[in-house]
Amino acid sequence: MKVLVLHGPNLNLLGERKPEVYGSTKLSELNARLRAKARELGLQLRIFQSNHEGALIDKLHAERRWMQGLIINPGALTHYSYALRDAVEAVQVRTYEVHLSNIHEREAFRRISVLTDIAEGQIMGKGIDSYLEAMARLARPLPA
Ligand code: DQA
Repeated sequence: MKVLVLHGPNLNLLGERKPEVYGSTKLSELNARLRAKARELGLQLRIFQSNHEGALIDKLHAERRWMQGLIINPGALTHYSYALRDAVEAVQVRTYEVHLSNIHEREAFRRISVLTDIAEGQIMGKGIDSYLEAMARLARPLPA
C-alpha cells in the first residue's frame, strides 16, 4: 500500500517546540521511525512537511493518483482549514488524522477538528505513536 504522510505548519520544529507537549523527538527522527515501520509493514511511504496550507493542498493533488492512504497531522490547520478539508475529501483515500498531543485536553480552540468526520480515524495524544498506530491501521485491509 502506498501512503502519503503530511506534516502541517510548525511540525518542522518538532523536538524544540514545546517539548513538554510535543515530545523531544525531531521531525527527521520521527520520519526515520516512520520509514522503518513502513518497511516492517510493507508500506511504501512518501513524507512531506510544509508551513503553507496551499503547499499541503498542492501535494495532496500531486499524489492523488499515487497514494492509497493518507496520514495527516494538519497542525493548527486542523481547527479551521476548510480548504485542506476539501482537498482531503477530494482525493478519496483512506485517511487518518493524527496529533501528537490530545487536542481535547488543551485550549478550547483546539477541541474542534474540521477534518475528523471525513477521516477513517483520528488518533491523538500518543506522541509519535499516534503516527505509528495510524500506519498499522492502514496496513490492515478494511473489513469487507
Ligand atoms: C497538533 C495539535 C495542534 O493543535 C497544533 O496546532 C499543532 C500540533 C498535534 O500534533 O498535537 O501544531 O496537531
